[in-house]
Amino acid sequence: MTAKNWESASLREVVEKSGLGCGADPARVSVEGADLRLMPKTAVSLAMALHELCTNAVKYGALSSAAGTVLVSWHVEGPEDAPSLFLQWQEKGGPRVSRPEKRGFGSRMVERALAAELGGIVTIEFPPEGVVCTIKAPIVSGAS
Ligand SMILES: Nc1ncnc2c1ncn2[C@@H]1O[C@H](COP(=O)(O)OP(=O)(O)O)[C@@H](O)[C@H]1O
Ligand SMILES: [Mg+2]
Repeated sequence: MTAKNWESASLREVVEKSGLGCGADPARVSVEGADLRLMPKTAVSLAMALHELCTNAVKYGALSSAAGTVLVSWHVEGPEDAPSLFLQWQEKGGPRVSRPEKRGFGSRMVERALAAELGGIVTIEFPPEGVVCTIKAPIVSGAS
């Protein structure tokens, strides 16, 4: 995956390719949010994070059981000249989650590298009902 491949990616495309492209059952992943264009760098960072979240959901989370679901939703907030993307990955209906004793490379990468690259804030929480990852990142409007 290179930045070039993602030059014209919309957020919805990034979510559909990376958040579902790990063997997730598309029928169990809902995507909610008005589409918007992302800078290539932001698209690549988000794609990596969503791929990791998707993989974890299939391995350990809501998509590892027969009935669990994922909701990926986003909106834009903040002033028009400095908008932020607020995106949430929310699992439910899977096996009861217990807080991991040890954070692996994947979730550390998502939280730290992504936060640094996006200049935003990323948190992953492990409530018993399902993992929730919240990403808040500045977006440059009009970028392609
Ligand atoms: N979606 C999830 N649902 C439940 N537990 C999870 C989920 N994602 C991660 N975990 C827990 O957090 C641990 C660390 O995950 P991660 O950092 O991605 O490392 P790895 O995938 O290499 O084990 C996992 O071993 C698992 O116990
Ligand atoms: Mg992982």
